[in-house]
Amino acid sequence: MPKISVQKPTRLIHHNPVCLVTSKSDTVENVFTASWVMPVSNNPPMVALSVAKSRFSYGLIKKSGAFVLNIPNKSMLKEVIYCGSVSGRDKNKFAEMKFQKEMSPHANILLSKCIAYLECKVTKEIEVSDRTIFIAEIIANGVQKGLFENDKWILSEKSEILLYLGDGKYCTVRPV
Ligand SMILES: Cc1cc2nc3c(=O)[nH]c(=O)nc-3n(C[C@H](O)[C@H](O)[C@H](O)COP(=O)(O)O)c2cc1C
Repeated sequence: MPKISVQKPTRLIHHNPVCLVTSKSDTVENVFTASWVMPVSNNPPMVALSVAKSRFSYGLIKKSGAFVLNIPNKSMLKEVIYCGSVSGRDKNKFAEMKFQKEMSPHANILLSKCIAYLECKVTKEIEVSDRTIFIAEIIANGVQKGLFENDKWILSEKSEILLYLGDGKYCTVRPV
């Protein structure tokens, strides 16, 4: 089958789950949107998160060695767009989005409205161009009751998580 070459090849595998990443260091707290996230190990459970060094969150994660991947569903698209376009240097995004916060098992920040979370402790950093890939162990997790069973999401309207295609376009997960 004939194929065409595209200018941004990473976009061909770009539809990763969108997360709202919370982090804190000393008294400073922040939240930003990230979709360059992937699982990297089952035992122990580990993820990789790619963060541009220009992000305010970068310094917080680097210093604290911890972050939480809060997973929104499609009802939180407005919050996802806002947290992915405004920096914590300029605004208190928790206040602007009226996020209700909870404390995670290891004293990090959870967003109550999200349907799941993975609390992560950084174990390794890999420098790639203008970014750092934080490799992290999942030290605690939680998912809203009724949305996950037998190690899998139960696909329903509530569990429709967001995937990012790039250039402001999103889609969601549906059963096939
Ligand atoms: C859907 C979406 C996904 C994004 N994914 C990432 C990502 O994986 N890594 C990253 O560094 N920035 C990502 N961004 C950009 C940051 O969210 C954005 O620059 C944000 O304003 C940074 O906030 P901060 O300066 O408060 O940390 C994404 C933005 C959007 C809208």
